[in-house]
Amino acid sequence: MKITASAPGKIALFGEHAVVYGKPAIVSSIDKRIYVTIEERSDDDLKISAMDLHIPGIILTYRKDQQLPKVETNFSRVEEAISYVQKGVYLASEYCGKRKGVNVEVRSEMPVGAGLGTSAALSVATAYAYLTLLGVEIKRESLAELGHKIEVAVQGSASPMDTAVACFGGLLQVTPLQTGPSIERIGVNQIPGLVIGYTARETTTAELLKRVRSLRSSFPEAVESIMSAIGSIVSASRRALERGDLASLGELMNINHGLLESLGVSTKRLNDMVYSARYAGALGSKLTGAGGGGCMIALSPSKESAVKTAIQVAGGMPLAASLSDIGAKIED
Ligand code: MEV
Repeated sequence: MKITASAPGKIALFGEHAVVYGKPAIVSSIDKRIYVTIEERSDDDLKISAMDLHIPGIILTYRKDQQLPKVETNFSRVEEAISYVQKGVYLASEYCGKRKGVNVEVRSEMPVGAGLGTSAALSVATAYAYLTLLGVEIKRESLAELGHKIEVAVQGSASPMDTAVACFGGLLQVTPLQTGPSIERIGVNQIPGLVIGYTARETTTAELLKRVRSLRSSFPEAVESIMSAIGSIVSASRRALERGDLASLGELMNINHGLLESLGVSTKRLNDMVYSARYAGALGSKLTGAGGGGCMIALSPSKESAVKTAIQVAGGMPLAASLSDIGAKIED
């Protein structure tokens, strides 16, 4: 028997990092997904193949005296991605108290580890496919919780934001509470002129979370007020989204980017992309996700093409993706 589950990537519109410290965040699933196919084996082994993770960057060195090139890839990124699958199978099996040897095949429609929530999508889709193969039904809330546990097991810490959106799908406000996250749907389907730009990641999410934590323990009051300011931006953005006020939304994106910068999670390349987008006519722009390279978003109604070109000139790659409200699902 073979089961395929899929889960969407996401963009964080507002509130990343502060959501790890209990503040609300606004996040949306996108129309790019991760597919995990799980097939029963006749033994107890776990075999993972990840042939298409959209991880760019391969270096081939051809030496004069050698027939075959030396191949260097971004192996640590592949390894990191695979650890979510491995932990996913392990924790899903612990969740239901059953175990089976399986072959797992992973395919991604977006670059893995780029800040688009692929680790959450991988965690959720792996657990969903594995449990379904074992004949175990799981409620959406419990799947989101299990996905979050998998992320924490690999990264050390995480908010429930990415796993909630990978599981439920849609444009959501996620507020972490003591009792579990509160998830509210925002009644907006599309945001006009949203452009995503991608650049290579220089640092992992786990490392960035550690950096912010250490900044917070060195300067607790200063960092706590940055987190609170991000929380206020989230409330103002939700109101702006609901009344379709794109100009305010753009300004709020700019403020949110400045605050993320002050937490030390942006990079020169990301800042170049963010500023170039604004100079090309975007109403606002910010990094999205954990930072350290990865993705940025720009709100560019009627200026999409100029903004995409500006992102390219600044060394980034525009990605074609739009908001979608399809959460985790079992494929036919
Ligand atoms: C990563 O997509 C977003 C962070 O806020 C981490 C998290 O919420 O788990 C940086």
